[in-house]
Amino acid sequence: MKVEIPIRPFWYSDIWIFPKLITIITTLDKQGRVNAAPYSHIMQYDVMHKNPRMYLGFRLTSHTYENIAATGEFVINCPPADYLEDLMETAVFHDEGVCELDNTRFTQIPSLKVKPPSLEECGQIMECTVDQIYELEHPRQGHVIAKIEAIVVDEGHEKMSRAERIKALNMPIGMGDERRTDYFYTFADRLVMHKLEDPPSAVAMGEKIPTTMEWDHDALEAIKPIPPGVRKMIIPQVEDIAKRASAKRVTNEHYLQMMKESDMDEAILERFRSGG
Ligand SMILES: Cc1cc2nc3c(=O)[nH]c(=O)nc-3n(C[C@H](O)[C@H](O)[C@H](O)COP(=O)(O)O)c2cc1C
Repeated sequence: MKVEIPIRPFWYSDIWIFPKLITIITTLDKQGRVNAAPYSHIMQYDVMHKNPRMYLGFRLTSHTYENIAATGEFVINCPPADYLEDLMETAVFHDEGVCELDNTRFTQIPSLKVKPPSLEECGQIMECTVDQIYELEHPRQGHVIAKIEAIVVDEGHEKMSRAERIKALNMPIGMGDERRTDYFYTFADRLVMHKLEDPPSAVAMGEKIPTTMEWDHDALEAIKPIPPGVRKMIIPQVEDIAKRASAKRVTNEHYLQMMKESDMDEAILERFRSGG
């Protein structure tokens, strides 16, 4: 049996459980003073394009949002689980201009492409600049679409497998808050890997390719070996290029142009083919 729960204000911290990414966002205010605070409302936005982007949501009145809107720059730092106390310290509300990091063990280091500092103790860091901002009145929120200027990891992590990197990063997973004061966390100490089943052979061989235009034979042949999930993302991009060129049919040239514009190469496609 199931029971319906009344939808109350702050339902997401009341009944609904959201496992979340835990980050500390560092920014500078207009005077160049450092601000740091925890944020979780963060997702990938554009994973295919040459300019990959992130999506973030903020309270309009937070210092972090004000700084991002004013300076156009910020850094997403992913702290390890051993720094939870320090992370929580950065959530304490302070007056404008107070650097929350002063009360923590975090060390500020220069970022590569933006002015706000990065945090040494964080094994995974993303430097961002603002691409677009949408301000909503109800509720009062700022939605930021940001360009990823740099992804920075601890040396050695780039050579690890995903499973090894998850272990090395030791990131806490946010399990939501209660009463806006009690925050729950869990840890990735039990890792399970599931493999997707191979698609039915007809789909794998590319016989049901979801195109909306006519494609030349060699262009279709070029996309056939690409796994269906990736192929679905690629096809509209290739067709957009053909439409931009006012072409009636999609040619191999359009496919090659999409690969170039998206910074895709054979090595990336091979990663999907081999499941690595
Ligand atoms: C784990 C965690 C995640 C949080 N995620 C968000 C978030 O995604 N968006 C938001 O507006 N506030 C979030 N908060 C609350 C802000 O961190 C908090 O309001 C902070 O004081 C804001 O600081 P600032 O004004 O310096 O930006 C989160 C807090 C914690 C502890």
